[in-house]
Amino acid sequence: MGFTFLQKFGAAVLVTVWLVWGSNMIGNMVVPVREPPPSSGTPTAAAPSGAAQAKDAPIEDIKPLLASAPVDQGETLFKKCTACHTGEKGGANKVGPNLWNVVGGPKAHSEAFSYSNALKEKGGEWSYDDLNHFIASPKAFAPGTKMTFAGFKKAEERAALIAYLRTLADSPAPLP
Ligand code: HEC
Repeated sequence: MGFTFLQKFGAAVLVTVWLVWGSNMIGNMVVPVREPPPSSGTPTAAAPSGAAQAKDAPIEDIKPLLASAPVDQGETLFKKCTACHTGEKGGANKVGPNLWNVVGGPKAHSEAFSYSNALKEKGGEWSYDDLNHFIASPKAFAPGTKMTFAGFKKAEERAALIAYLRTLADSPAPLP
């Protein structure tokens, strides 16, 4: 007994549907679904010029750069921080704590500021090395930190910035 036209037509429709659905499935498996790029922090924390650098690139030591780092350039770069920080003696805490006396001082140094546990648990002092790592990527240095700032990827920029931060003290910490 032969197939009727309707049976053949029905089979053709089934096969077509299966082919379209099946190739779509395979396509999805082979070509990963593209996700939109992650948004980069808050709008105030504009990514600095070097932010495109690979995330896990090693963080260059800035200690050798500090002595000759341009403090005035650091002061200009510090404008990226003043959205959240004041730098002058007795300055207010904003979104982030006042940064007077921060270099060489204890971490979470402002008693009036409510720090994240991530930063409090770090403990110890803000050495040049720790500041270097924190400013390169706050999140990588202290996962869970409240400081939503992308970080400065360029060693020269971090050196200038930290050289400027060092001047925010009655008696600046000795250079390394
Ligand atoms: C979007 C707001 C924001 C920006 C921009 C920002 N910070 Fe912060 N910063 C914070 C917050 C919030 C904390 C407290 C972090 C915590 O408790 O985890 C903090 C903490 C710090 C600390 C530790 C202070 C302490 O008492 O231990 C340093 C140092 C610091 N920031 C430096 C900087 C520098 C330098 C810049 C500019 C390159 C900067 N921050 C930009 C919000 C910000």
